[in-house]
Amino acid sequence: MEKTCALIKPDLTSKNQTGKVISMIEEAGFNIAQLKKLTMTKELAESFYAVHADKPFFNDVVQFMTSGPIIAMVLEKESSIAAWRDLMGATNPEQAESGTIRALFGSNIQENGTHGSDSAENAEKEISLVFG
Ligand code: TYD
Ligand code: MG
Repeated sequence: MEKTCALIKPDLTSKNQTGKVISMIEEAGFNIAQLKKLTMTKELAESFYAVHADKPFFNDVVQFMTSGPIIAMVLEKESSIAAWRDLMGATNPEQAESGTIRALFGSNIQENGTHGSDSAENAEKEISLVFG
């Protein structure tokens, strides 16, 4: 079964909205193969977002992702990478389709509630960074 790496970001842990997101994941038929709560170190966040190291938002995203605890999950489902990105919605909550997690719970393009891997290669890399 295809695996993807899902994170519930610090904006939602600080607002006690993680349970609603986990319910949506379960209702959508994903198997939560692994789950843990952690606070990312700067080093981990920089590695996790290394593909964006040259982007203007890189330092801000690292700052935000280390600002509080996250919930990290390994989700399993057929085509889980695309399915989880569909359930999350677009990166910018203002452009996310209604009913998606980012439309429901995201605040802005940075504090957008959740992360999902964008390819099998990145899923494997992210899972090994977070879960070892
Ligand atoms: P990206 O990989 O483009 O989006 P996604 O999370 O949908 O795969 O960007 C990674 C994260 O970086 C994104 O979730 C939030 C942050 N970000 C910004 O803060 N500003 C931006 O303009 C973009 C594109 C992303
Ligand atoms: Mg991405």
